[in-house]
Amino acid sequence: MLLATKLRGLEAPKPAASSQEPAASSQKCYFSAVTKDAARRRIAVVPGDGIGKEVIAQALHVIRATGAPVDFTEFDWSADRYLRDGTTIPADGFAMLTRDYDAVFVGALGDPRVPSNVHAKDILLGMRFKMDLYANVRPVKCLDDSLCPLKNRKASEIDFVVIRENTEGPYVDVGGVFKQGTPDEVAVQEDVNTRKGVERVIRYAFEYARRHGRKKVLMTDKANVMTYAHGLWQRVFKEVAAEYADIGAQHMYVDALCMHMVRDPAQFDVIVTNNMFGDIITDLAAALQGGLGMAASGNIHPGRRSMFEPVHGSAPPFAGKNIANPMGAILTAAMMLDHLGRASEAKKINDAVLEAVRQKKTTQDIGGSLGTRECGEWIQQQVTGNR
Ligand SMILES: NC(=O)c1ccc[n+]([C@@H]2O[C@H](COP(=O)([O-])OP(=O)(O)OC[C@H]3O[C@@H](n4cnc5c(N)ncnc54)[C@H](O)[C@@H]3O)[C@@H](O)[C@H]2O)c1
Repeated sequence: MLLATKLRGLEAPKPAASSQEPAASSQKCYFSAVTKDAARRRIAVVPGDGIGKEVIAQALHVIRATGAPVDFTEFDWSADRYLRDGTTIPADGFAMLTRDYDAVFVGALGDPRVPSNVHAKDILLGMRFKMDLYANVRPVKCLDDSLCPLKNRKASEIDFVVIRENTEGPYVDVGGVFKQGTPDEVAVQEDVNTRKGVERVIRYAFEYARRHGRKKVLMTDKANVMTYAHGLWQRVFKEVAAEYADIGAQHMYVDALCMHMVRDPAQFDVIVTNNMFGDIITDLAAALQGGLGMAASGNIHPGRRSMFEPVHGSAPPFAGKNIANPMGAILTAAMMLDHLGRASEAKKINDAVLEAVRQKKTTQDIGGSLGTRECGEWIQQQVTGNR
């Protein structure tokens, strides 16, 4: 079967007019007097498409309200830009992000006017793959009983973290179609798992557990069917777990995990898994937090530039209507500040979001009556009041 497949890399970005990003048309710099203060952090912002633009605008206001020493440079990499001049990400884009910024903050990418989704693949998967952001960290914390969709469960019982492998699996786009359009058509998509890739994300999960006072790491796979690919995960998990005697190690097949996430989420602490299962179970996990509008994530390579984005997509039907929940993006901003060493500012944001949820100063998806902007402004004022 392998012989019938062909190797395909990510589609190459369409060449921009210049290999350098032209400053005037595509990037905006906030806090115009960019200071030489070494403690200041530079954040590249890619609002992207649809509701991404709306929620990121609110998250930036909230970050500013904390007084954190950060400067933002906004890039217009999006469907609009792609449709205008064919640029997905400029040729030097990833090198520039790594060289010139301390973190990247992304909204969401995806637009029905670009059915191939080529710009989203280039920008989003491009960042994850080319900047080698191998650990996708997705905290799952239900902030209030009113957001918990499970009968007879309390918010306090939903507090775990999913660490998703972010650079391998079916996402590497290895595969192909043979005899397309005929009754004999064959479609193959390879699930790529490397020893190095598996080991580093499992190790990251154990280190994360240690750093955050978590007690156990659960690895989930489907090794009973994916015997080769997930057999590797099983072997590596056992080896790495043996190095962390202070952290419990557990395994669960992903189908059973889905059931237990609904029946008894309190048993989970840190879950580590492959790229595709991580993608799927974190949508289920988002529902345990109140919905996709509440879920935050970081794409991390320790010691390198990392990228932060809410879990949700661009939700085209919601775009431009001031109804998207900005809390996922705002909680993501807190994760980013924490990562940049600004724990006290991150805490102010987390506390303000918690207060907004308790006082129902929220958008409609989680039971409030505010718009995206009004919700963002309420949180911003709460943060300003706590400075
Ligand atoms: N990381 C990303 O940029 C990312 C992630 C997922 C999907 N996408 C893209 O986004 C586009 C739409 O995808 P989709 O509809 O499958 O997923 P989506 O996350 O955009 O939306 C799915 C549904 O979740 C709810 N939702 C999502 N975000 C919300 C918010 N902030 N507030 C309130 N409700 C919210 C809405 O009911 C929405 O219809 C596609 O082009 C897809 O490829 C991008």
